[in-house]
Amino acid sequence: MNEFDQITPPERLLMGPGPINIDPRILHTMSNKLIGQYDPMMTNYMNEVMQLYRIIFNTKNLNTLLIDGTSRAGIEAIFISMIKPGDKVLIPIFGRFGQLLYEISKRCKAHVHTIEVPWGEIFEPDKIEYSIKKIKPKFLLTVHGDTSTTMLQPLEEIGLICQKYEVIFYTDATASCGGNYLKTDDWKIDAVSAGMQKCLGGPSGTSPITINDKTIEIIQQRQRVEFGKNIDDKKIIFSNYFDINMIIDYWSEKRLNHHTEATTALYAAHECARLIIKEGIHNRILRHKLHGDALLHGIKNMGLKIFGDIKHKMNNILGVIIPKRINGEQVRKLMLDDFGIEIGTSFGPLKGRIWRIGTMGYNSRKDCVLRTLTALESILNKLGFKTTQGEALQATWDFYNINV
Ligand SMILES: Cc1ncc(COP(=O)(O)O)c(C=O)c1O
Repeated sequence: MNEFDQITPPERLLMGPGPINIDPRILHTMSNKLIGQYDPMMTNYMNEVMQLYRIIFNTKNLNTLLIDGTSRAGIEAIFISMIKPGDKVLIPIFGRFGQLLYEISKRCKAHVHTIEVPWGEIFEPDKIEYSIKKIKPKFLLTVHGDTSTTMLQPLEEIGLICQKYEVIFYTDATASCGGNYLKTDDWKIDAVSAGMQKCLGGPSGTSPITINDKTIEIIQQRQRVEFGKNIDDKKIIFSNYFDINMIIDYWSEKRLNHHTEATTALYAAHECARLIIKEGIHNRILRHKLHGDALLHGIKNMGLKIFGDIKHKMNNILGVIIPKRINGEQVRKLMLDDFGIEIGTSFGPLKGRIWRIGTMGYNSRKDCVLRTLTALESILNKLGFKTTQGEALQATWDFYNINV
């Protein structure tokens, strides 16, 4: 029989678009003892998770809970539960994750309409209003921050537009939540899903979601499965695992059995939210802005160009255009092999054209920014992109002295 070694991952500084290194306090929380899912201590942790994520999402929605699975599990659970075959949906696409919403709505057999802007831009609200008037969708499905382009779509006016035309408004806040403002109730967002592995600062594996009563009413019109009752294959939600009606019965005081809760992942999600609230949501967003701006300053001082409309970029991620005659993958490999630092590339039309550097969660810190800039500049010089070495680092250091 083969002998397998215990897993011992290398030391890495994860400065890509997620996942990121997690705060040791979260790792520590995850090493706690497992308990049964109906143990009163466990159901109390579940209730606390609901309360904590209401604060994170800025909402009073009772139905705020975790879907087990990565961020797309949250998206799928909401879509598959609220969208019936043939429902009209409108999706403004400004990057790869708008395309993901398109794909998932198609799988729900929705009647899907899309509008697009070039990658690196966001939508003006009147473009969305025009399309809503023309198409008359039941749902508007948006991404808040599209990680592939680094852009952050302003949502406040879109929420008002959706309210005016009685359109249910969903947003995917996987990349933005915890590092950028997200005001679910004030901005009239009916349903939101997120993910742990970016600004929320945790391990991937659970997706916090929040859904308002209006949207829950739509979901409750789908058939509720009861033992002994016939199943109507047109009315049933096409997934057991992602049936939000069943998941709510499980998270509510009814505690009806559904899946086996992912205990360790729930501990992590609890600790992430607790740490954010301890830091203060506003302070945390300012921290993401500070280190995002510092990175931007350093990159510009290195003579590199930024991708996209900087006015609308997320605080936590930067798209850097790979200079001509530099092999982007070779740079990423040297960053990882020789400096232990991971940065990202992008998808589709941006693959090989930009690097994406994240400063999120636990890694939204001065030392992480300065180490990343130092490594990147050394590698670029080694490969023939000449800078006055040390100048960008010094400028960033000075930036911190002025801005902190
Ligand atoms: C905006 C956005 N939505 C959805 C996803 C999908 O997330 P996951 O890989 O956790 O399923 C990602 C992943 O990066 C993302 O950035």
